[in-house]
Amino acid sequence: MKTISQTPLPDYKVNPLSLAPPPSFKLGQHTLQCPILLAPMVGVSDLPFREVCIQQGATLTVAEMLPADTAMWKTEKNRLRMKRSSAGGPEIVQIAGFDPQMMAEAARINADMGAEVIDINMGCPAKKVLKKAAGSALMRDPDLVQQILSAVVNAVDIPVTLKMRTGWCRAEKNGMEIARIAEDCGIRMLSVHGRTRECRFLGDAEYDTIAEIKHSISIPVIANGDITSPEKAAWVLYHTGADGLMIGRAAQGRPWIFREIRQYLQHGEHAVLPTALDISHLMQDHIRALHAFYGESCGALFARKHIDWYSKALPGGDDLKTRFMMEENMASQQALLENWHTEYLTKLAVA
Ligand SMILES: Cc1cc2nc3c(=O)[nH]c(=O)nc-3n(C[C@H](O)[C@H](O)[C@H](O)COP(=O)(O)O)c2cc1C
Repeated sequence: MKTISQTPLPDYKVNPLSLAPPPSFKLGQHTLQCPILLAPMVGVSDLPFREVCIQQGATLTVAEMLPADTAMWKTEKNRLRMKRSSAGGPEIVQIAGFDPQMMAEAARINADMGAEVIDINMGCPAKKVLKKAAGSALMRDPDLVQQILSAVVNAVDIPVTLKMRTGWCRAEKNGMEIARIAEDCGIRMLSVHGRTRECRFLGDAEYDTIAEIKHSISIPVIANGDITSPEKAAWVLYHTGADGLMIGRAAQGRPWIFREIRQYLQHGEHAVLPTALDISHLMQDHIRALHAFYGESCGALFARKHIDWYSKALPGGDDLKTRFMMEENMASQQALLENWHTEYLTKLAVA
């Protein structure tokens, strides 16, 4: 998956202090005002990363999608997806599927296991996992959407939310129709990734469509797609009138973006960025948690993926990345990170 640029675009300048704060709303036990959520991302928003993002200022996090078919929950991958902690939730459990009764049952079991909110995935192509059209493909069939949403809402006492795209395809941007169905079915919050399913990750997110959706329903709407800087976050809020924001790829290797955005929106100024020492500690803690969560060999692979992302945001990151990719176990990965910030500071002093 291509990682998007993190460069703020000058066109997106808007004074955040001139924005009226969106009204607060309740989601289960949470009272939220302009929440900044970590997006669900398979292979990324696992428990260790969610803990990091909460620590770095994310309001809530959504776990990686879980197939609604309970027969698939025995796999190691799904067993890990269901793990929770007090620091990393999942507060929001996302389920993906195509059968209303299966979805209702999956929601019920997750609610019994302590999920605070159930999110329904109509935001990403889940066909690969489910061998059948699910996720955003469901948007093509509004009747089925209605059946799924009603079945899930009626199955649980906790709030049910929906994540979707702006439509099935460019020619049939039916996001507004699906949003109205969602509202009628009792969905409590709607996250909209500003692209159609057909667009996948191509082109720019269409914030105009998110704005249209926001203004056509009365449940809270969360804007998602390509939010990569505090400036852009303020602009997206201004342009869409959304009640909150959801950040995905821009948090990879830069989880402090949640703190940066919050500081900018609340005080109109930029947050103090983490020092090399802070980042070194953050990476070490994150890598330690990955090893504990996935075990030695898988942990080392996940650690490489995250250090690849962290290194993109760091001066001299290429060197760190090259060396880290050669380390194969926890001890050597950890040792490299322990020394990295002193080497980095020495290099800065010499330069
Ligand atoms: C690696 C990856 C995995 C994703 N997995 C999911 C998922 O499990 N459920 C979902 O609804 N969306 C998923 N998405 C979509 C994101 O939640 C989000 O909508 C999208 O990345 C746009 O936001 P961004 O521009 O801030 O990244 C995934 C995206 C990526 C890049």
